[in-house]
Amino acid sequence: MIARELVVIPSFAREVEEGLSRTPKSLPSKLFYDGPGSVLFEEITRLPEYYLTRTELEILRTRADEIALAAGPNIAVVELGAGTATKTTTILRAFAGKQIRTSYFPVDISPSALDDAKIHITMQCPTVRVRPVVADFSEGFGFLRDIPGRKLVLYLGSSIGNFDPENAVSMLSEVRKQLSQGDSLLLGTDLIKPSAILIPAYDDARGITAQFNRNILRRLNRELGTGFYVNAFRHVACWNAVRSRMEMHLQSQCRQTVSLGILGSKVNFSGGERIHTENSYKYTTDTVNKMLASAGFSLDETWFDHRKWFALNLARVSAAAKIADDSACG
Ligand code: TRP
Repeated sequence: MIARELVVIPSFAREVEEGLSRTPKSLPSKLFYDGPGSVLFEEITRLPEYYLTRTELEILRTRADEIALAAGPNIAVVELGAGTATKTTTILRAFAGKQIRTSYFPVDISPSALDDAKIHITMQCPTVRVRPVVADFSEGFGFLRDIPGRKLVLYLGSSIGNFDPENAVSMLSEVRKQLSQGDSLLLGTDLIKPSAILIPAYDDARGITAQFNRNILRRLNRELGTGFYVNAFRHVACWNAVRSRMEMHLQSQCRQTVSLGILGSKVNFSGGERIHTENSYKYTTDTVNKMLASAGFSLDETWFDHRKWFALNLARVSAAAKIADDSACG
């Protein structure tokens, strides 16, 4: 009897095939964050060139009390994409100092990151009640409705900048729909600055970001059996001033044909051809304001670091959007 092996094709495989058959070629950026990718990203956040994490932390450290005061009394803190919640201690301490009870709801797709978040926060802020929520944002933000009372929703790290403008507005609108008057959003946004500062942040001297970008190909080799020769692709980070974004690409160093493994097809690359892997949009206070307004929020207050490289924006559910919502039937 012949044993037939069952080949399980991961759900992202068709997206990979589709992205690589387009011109220009692209790969879904969600593929970055597997185990090794998450470790590399943690390393990126500590690089001297990657100012984002450190700069946002400076604002949180110096302005936590002001932020907590502006958010108002009796607030539950919800963090979207909390990961291991290493940045959140400062703000939770500020709330714990002014409220009798503070609840913290870290939300993430990774249960193991949330376990770490719970241990970390419980040790650092023993009076804060931690209630982890495992959720996949592609399935919506309905979980926000289940969290009682007034909320401050944190969306840090300029993760919003990894969405194209239309998708950023629809994501924020989805969040907005689950919130009520009195709730607010604290949004981290990276600001436009000279390309001499932006480019090294995405192309560091030690090559960690290059490894992180190329890890996508390693993952495809591992999980789909593709035949990428990883070193035949160069990491490229460039500043697109017209669209106000950093772009990450993988550039084929030669003409080559790569097998797509269990997908059973092949893909051709010309020498110098690129695969677009990620965008990171950079903002001005004005573009942040417009993005929030289009999503039904009104920008209330913005805090900057000492160099004005990064902004934390406190936005409230805007009254106009609330009225429009309430008058809708169904
Ligand atoms: N959210 C991060 C950012 O936009 C992601 C990131 C950092 C990234 N470095 C990268 C994505 C390099 C792709 C390649 O800053």
